[in-house]
Amino acid sequence: MKLLDKIGREFSGYNILESGKRLIDRRPLQCSLYVTDRCNLDCAYCTEYDNSRPHPSLNDLKKWIRKIRELGTMRIALVGGEPLVHPNIVEVVRYCRELGFATSLTTNGFLLTRKLLAELEDAGLQVMQISVDRMTPSPITKKSFKTILPKLDYFRDSKISLHITGVICADTLPESEAVLETGLSRGIPTEVRLVHADPLHRFRVDRGRREELERFIDSMIERKRNGEKIHTSEAILNYQRSLLRGEHVEWTCMAGYKLFFVSAQGKFWICSMVHTDKHIMDVTLDDLYANYRKKSCQEGCGVYCAVSASLLMEKPMAVLGKEIIARAKRVPAMLSSSSRSRTDNMSSLGVTEPDGTHKVNSGTNCGPSANDRVTLGKSA
Ligand SMILES: C[S@@+](CC[C@H](N)C(=O)[O-])C[C@H]1O[C@@H](n2cnc3c(N)ncnc32)[C@H](O)[C@@H]1O
Ligand code: SF4
Ligand code: SF4
Repeated sequence: MKLLDKIGREFSGYNILESGKRLIDRRPLQCSLYVTDRCNLDCAYCTEYDNSRPHPSLNDLKKWIRKIRELGTMRIALVGGEPLVHPNIVEVVRYCRELGFATSLTTNGFLLTRKLLAELEDAGLQVMQISVDRMTPSPITKKSFKTILPKLDYFRDSKISLHITGVICADTLPESEAVLETGLSRGIPTEVRLVHADPLHRFRVDRGRREELERFIDSMIERKRNGEKIHTSEAILNYQRSLLRGEHVEWTCMAGYKLFFVSAQGKFWICSMVHTDKHIMDVTLDDLYANYRKKSCQEGCGVYCAVSASLLMEKPMAVLGKEIIARAKRVPAMLSSSSRSRTDNMSSLGVTEPDGTHKVNSGTNCGPSANDRVTLGKSA
């Protein structure tokens, strides 16, 4: 790929016009849709799966997706449970793309095959976020590079942009550095983030020692400032550090307004932690706007995607400015790798240019952004 093209892509995620519209109007930017509650795994920290519930039908999902679009939502993040266990996941993706959504999917990757990735690509999926917590499985989480490393090769010729995201807790912390390194060294935008509490503010696993966690977050902030592809904004890394220190952060939660969730029963949820009984089919723009307010649950909030979108909406220049500077620092490395690439045979993966799927960071379980390319080394 030409160098200028490469540099252009570093910044292309910042679809200023598209995101700009949502900065000034009253419509939502993003919805996370639970395509199912069912899951093939049982991560100890997770409260977002329930195998007693059936999958929603394709017809219901399509009806909700249409409604989400009618509200003006630009991006849809397909989440769960495990999205790949839904038998119609490819049709769901295709439908989202037909309606013009920028579309991403978050998965544990266990059911991913070369064939399924090709089908999702054909359906128009732009971004896949694979969750990887450790190098090897543990009783707390089976999501490890042991399963995912052999699958990275599927992305070599895929237009789907890949991101890696891991959860940090006491069990994973000793391997978090290696997870980050494994992703970054292959050119994959990678993020690891602090485990969050359940809706009743309980942590289901040991979070780890505060000093060690803080040291690790600090190291990510430094790497981010140096231009490494840490797939979250400095604002969210700083936010996590403040959480650890028990410091107050001033922000206004835009969940339920600029971003919202729809459950696998079609219920409108403010976020993954705060649920309502209202059906998405009954939601109006006024209902959404009513959620533009500070919330009593803000202190200690671990829904990083909501924090991220809220900070972006509140302070776009500050958040975007730092991100653009961090990306600009990658350009010299690109220049040298471009001259090296004439002599070595690293292969660059072609990925779809996201059609406006800008997000400074995706933060957490709301789904990924689509603003980085993936380059896999031979070892991938
Ligand atoms: C609920 S999962 C659904 C998609 C898919 N099953 C997966 O694991 O990627 C979405 C994301 O939320 C993360 N997650 C789940 N529980 C969490 C918690 N308590 N704290 C932080 N992240 C969590 C998962 O690791 C995953 O990246
Ligand atoms: S984090 Fe994902 S894979 Fe793990 S139990 Fe929850 S839904 Fe399943
Ligand atoms: S503050 Fe956090 S938990 Fe509360 S509504 Fe906003 S995103 Fe959800």
